[in-house]
Amino acid sequence: MLLAGSLRLTGRIQVFYLLDIKTDSLNSGPGTAFLEYLEHYNSPVDLAGDIFVDFSERIADYLDFIRKKDRDEDSKTIQIGKRLRDLGAPMESYKILKSDALYYKSKGDINMYLKRMYLAGAFANLGFPVKSIEQEAKNFCEELRKSKEFQPFLPLFLLNYAGILHIYRENYRVANEVYKEAISTIRQLVPDSFYNMTGKEYLWALKLISNNYIDSLLYTDKMADGDEELARMLDIAEERMEETESEYARFLTLLNKAEIMARRGETEKADKILEGIIRDSSGIVRGMVEPGCRRIKAIILALNGHDEESIDYIIRALEESGYYGNTLCETLTMRDGIHIYNILAKHKGKNDQYIFYREKGLFDYLLEVLKVKDWYLGSEHTINVKNTAIKIAEILLLKKEAIRLVGTSALLHDIGKCAIPWYSLNKITPLDDLDWEILKVHPIEGARMLRKLGLDEEAEIAENHHERTDGSGYPEGKMDISLETEIVAISDVFNSATTPNRKYKNPQSPADVLREIRKGEKFSSQVICGLEKYIQESFPER
Ligand SMILES: [Fe+2]
Ligand SMILES: [Fe+2]
Repeated sequence: MLLAGSLRLTGRIQVFYLLDIKTDSLNSGPGTAFLEYLEHYNSPVDLAGDIFVDFSERIADYLDFIRKKDRDEDSKTIQIGKRLRDLGAPMESYKILKSDALYYKSKGDINMYLKRMYLAGAFANLGFPVKSIEQEAKNFCEELRKSKEFQPFLPLFLLNYAGILHIYRENYRVANEVYKEAISTIRQLVPDSFYNMTGKEYLWALKLISNNYIDSLLYTDKMADGDEELARMLDIAEERMEETESEYARFLTLLNKAEIMARRGETEKADKILEGIIRDSSGIVRGMVEPGCRRIKAIILALNGHDEESIDYIIRALEESGYYGNTLCETLTMRDGIHIYNILAKHKGKNDQYIFYREKGLFDYLLEVLKVKDWYLGSEHTINVKNTAIKIAEILLLKKEAIRLVGTSALLHDIGKCAIPWYSLNKITPLDDLDWEILKVHPIEGARMLRKLGLDEEAEIAENHHERTDGSGYPEGKMDISLETEIVAISDVFNSATTPNRKYKNPQSPADVLREIRKGEKFSSQVICGLEKYIQESFPER
């Protein structure tokens, strides 16, 4: 059975996770009460049912307070951000820290403004940094490049920006350039002045940047100076290791070293390092590095043709990476999981690839994540959508191959929700612009995952399943939509509207849903006709 709500970390995630947060001691105001409340809970598992309603409302109330311009200073914002991060709501942490940053800006305290903005960005990088946040990160880098006074902040903001490009956009080449700039700017700074201005330990920041850069380099397709750059970064990550306080930084560097060896084909050396990590680590750190070790072991095995063993390792790494408490951890492990499955399925035909993924547990795993994360719809939704879509496709007399495609795409249409933080998927208080921007990412993310698996047709349907023929849909507002996509889309709407969920508090009857769909003019008459026949056949009494 897959682990629900386990909050363990994979190897490299910790580079982002260690925010080295220093907290202020002042004690008063709404922040104190909110923090006390949050301390009752340890993971999203504790927040089910009525507790969740209360939890959501308290977050909304606190956000109302923190956004006020005429409020008092609140010393608890960072601790609250950390708690919400641990409870699977890192995007709310982003909102709180950003509001706090703007508060200090309005008071003319630019140093505090930048400290809070850096943290806001770091929290967003643990959830899902959408386009507007990417643009914001980029703008900060541009401003800081011009600033002499606040130079020490530049490497930190470059790190945030590079992290978005690297982990979430997989734009490794540009990410590498940004990391490179971060390394060269931090190298030019005096450690003490860096610490005095940013409040961050110099060596910690240096190791954070170099380890992230190594990860990005490892995923970059052949670069002219890739190996040289990797060696240079490993030197930086390893230098003055004994002086860093963080035991974790040491293991992190070792994990990266093992991965470099594995990719170079020096598997024995890599194995030795991994064994050493397991032998020498203990307690919490062990829990953090173990999934990372399994992931690298899986890569080694896949590269050497040991398919079955490799899959065992990656599934265990996936299970241990946690679901909704830690979105970045899932993102990294899923990225590697998909990468490994793809290595293993490379030489198979298209149809065989799909069967391979299904038989080897990949889809079960992803659907399990959906079930745990999406409290309203869960995995049952995808199965219902699949059944409805296949029936409509049969009614509309599609060819066998097209019916197969409709079925597989329907099952996987919402898979991109795996990339969205748990709280953003489920919150019940009114959604703001950022919440919508986050939710609307799921078709693109789903398509991206499926394309990486070589499932291009399924990817296209996943990408377009919220598009509508009148141009009112998202992400693109396309009007030209394939019949197969429309079948999945109408089955999705039908099943969402007839099941209780966030949008439809009271489930509607099939006849009402059909009436509403007819009024909306968002679907072609052909697919509406298919739905009508499906309802007549499947729900004759209504
Ligand atoms: Fe969807
Ligand atoms: Fe859906």
